[in-house]
Amino acid sequence: MKLLITGGAGFIGSNFIHYWLKKYPEDKIVNLDVLTYAGNLENLKDVENNANYQFVKGDICDADLVNNLVKDVDLIVHFAAESHVDRSVIDSSDFIRTNVEGTRVLLDAAKINGTRFHHISTDEVFGSLNSGDAASNENSIYKPRSPYSASKAASDHLVCAYFHTHNLPITISNCSNNYGPYQFPEKVIPLFITNLLEGKKVPVYGEGKNIRDWIHVDDHNAGVEAIIKKGKIGETYCLGGNNQTANIDLTKMILNLMGKGEEMLEFVKDRPGHDLRYDLDYSKAKNELDWEPKIKLADGLKDTIAWYEKNQDWWKEIKSGEYRKYYEKQYGVA
Ligand code: NAD
Ligand code: DAU
Repeated sequence: MKLLITGGAGFIGSNFIHYWLKKYPEDKIVNLDVLTYAGNLENLKDVENNANYQFVKGDICDADLVNNLVKDVDLIVHFAAESHVDRSVIDSSDFIRTNVEGTRVLLDAAKINGTRFHHISTDEVFGSLNSGDAASNENSIYKPRSPYSASKAASDHLVCAYFHTHNLPITISNCSNNYGPYQFPEKVIPLFITNLLEGKKVPVYGEGKNIRDWIHVDDHNAGVEAIIKKGKIGETYCLGGNNQTANIDLTKMILNLMGKGEEMLEFVKDRPGHDLRYDLDYSKAKNELDWEPKIKLADGLKDTIAWYEKNQDWWKEIKSGEYRKYYEKQYGVA
């Protein structure tokens, strides 16, 4: 089988490429990535000489390039996106362009050849839950509240529309908050781990009461694999982590695992429109695909901290570059 992976130089996409080539070494992978600030070929150093792996630097909004690449692939797994909520608050233009228009370009290319299309999406499209609300599932109403989640919701709707209108063989996964190796250190877990390794404090938004459901990236990718292999065409699957945790508790877990005290924690200005809580009911994926998340947050965090301790060159390079300007704007400190 030949797969076109979009956004394979980012966090989840690069972990997916490692996962897939290890499990299906006979398959061929083409990785299309424009290498934004979040794309990093260092994530794929160990596969760059694999004869079954090819990297193409390019934009998913480039229809000629995309049409050409899609011609001879059996499956598209679409990870490419602008993915950081805080950046979408500052400027949403790239989010609309890549997440909406880029998805449209890929769908039109897939339509020409009837190519199987798996779309990677997020629990954020279901909006914010209050504390007593039931977890979101595949039948929940879409209520996106940030420019990021609105752009992902639009892309999900487009993917569904191409199934209903053009009979395109699609599936969608909506996943909760991922963590693990190669995650860009603007997201809360790698930001906090690397700050602590640098002797800096960790900035908790508001009062730290917001709740996220954490899933290890390997569990997410196993869920995507299960959908590719066993999912029903036209269907959506929610991939939850079964690890709902308030940010303040997550922060204390990280401090504790890294042997740091609470004086390293500082409360900072809240994110505008900060969603209170996400939670996903993954019983459809469990019942129909025999998938469920396996990695407990405490174990996954321990391994992730060890990875960032061991791979300091990887994140120090990122933190000293272009990213610093964003960080200064966000937190007012270097
Ligand atoms: P990321 O920001 O780490 O990586 C995104 C990748 O897409 C980068 O390599 C970037 O260069 C590439 N890209 C961006 N614009 C592009 C364009 N126009 N053309 C080609 N490539 C482009 O993101 P991530 O955290 O790995 O997220 C991957 C996908 O998973 C996204 O669709 C995101 O919405 C979804 N998702 C993420 C999470 C999470 O917790 N990180 C959870 C659920 C769903
Ligand atoms: O839920 C899935 C989503 O998870 C994905 O679709 C997104 O691509 C991904 O970025 C992530 O979004 P979040 O906004 O939940 O992730 P982030 O790591 O930015 O923040 C997690 C929580 O931590 C959130 O409640 C905000 C808080 N936070 C974040 C940062 C960066 C802080 O308290 N301090 C911080 O410095």
